[in-house]
Order: sequence, then C-alpha cells, then structure tokens
Amino acid sequence: MAHTDQAEPTRRDFLYIATGAMGVVGAGALAWPFIDQMNPDASALALASIEVDISAVEEGQSITVKWRGKPVFIRNRTETEVEEAKAVPLADLPDPLARNSNLPADAEASDANRGVEGNEKWLVQVGICTHLGCVPIGSSGDFGGWFCPCHGSHYDTAGRIRKGPAPENLLIPPLEFVSDSTIKIG
Ligand code: FES
Repeated sequence: MAHTDQAEPTRRDFLYIATGAMGVVGAGALAWPFIDQMNPDASALALASIEVDISAVEEGQSITVKWRGKPVFIRNRTETEVEEAKAVPLADLPDPLARNSNLPADAEASDANRGVEGNEKWLVQVGICTHLGCVPIGSSGDFGGWFCPCHGSHYDTAGRIRKGPAPENLLIPPLEFVSDSTIKIG
C-alpha cells in the first residue's frame, strides 16, 4: 500500500502508481458482488475515505498512499524542513492561498496552514502537480520539497509552488488524526 520515497529515483513513483492502480481494479472486481448484495452504499463509503497507519514513517520519510484514485504524499518533515518553510516571506509565494481543504478557501499559505493542524511536522497532500497533473518527485527541486519533471515545477518543503509553470500549491485533502498514529483522509 505504501512505500518510502526519500531520495528515491523518479521512476519508482510512477511504477508504484501503475502497480497500485492495477491492484485497486483487481480488488474492486472481486469485492463488488459481495458489497453490491449486502449494501449498495458501502462501496461509495469505502472510496470516500481511508485510514492510514503512519507509525512506521520516521522523521524525514514519506509514504505514498492511494485515495480516490490519486496518490497522496504523507511526509514526516524534519525540523529543518519546517523551519525553512516558516522562514519564507508570504510575499514570495506565487500562490498565496493555503489550498487546504480543512481551512477556509481564503486561508493564507503559511506553513502552519499547510501542515496538519496541531501536528505541523506532518504534511499530507495530493501528489498531483497543479500544472498538468504529473506526479512530482519528493526530496527534490530547488527548494528541497517536490519537483515535477514534466515541465519543471519546484515546490518547497510545505508543498507550495515556488518556481515553474504550476499555478497552485499542492492540494491538501480533507484529513484528521483519528489516533496518535492514524490519519483519516477524506
Ligand atoms: S505537469 Fe508538473 S510542471 Fe507541468
């Protein structure tokens, strides 16, 4: 379900996505007849949210999970990454909005508004470049965050676009901690 991507080569992200997608299709085909008979709404609920155990994700590591058919990056940021993101003047950000589904649409793109509320070292974001939809690479780019190789978009350690054609910060999905070690997405 998950893999670490710290300083890993780019192809691995793409291979994971391809493999994960096939797995989901296979499981869905098997599970569907049972779900359909028992409760038609259950399949919709299953797709709507997922719970992820993050207890094995150490500081400086990331995992990628699949939610509603999309990759979601979950990163346990280092203190340095958080401090670097906090130090960025908001006026330097091409996209001034937090793009955080858990906050009002006009929330500013401060580091505090990007990290998980009350647990800011965790950063959870949809792993789809806001330019044309490629999957960015972690721990890469000019700002130490994510780099999209398709057309050269650089995101910082808070997932905010800093350079390149992407118009928006990486999207933060609806999420909450349901225990110390489990995040619910969706
Ligand atoms: S899709 Fe990412 S830079 Fe174009």
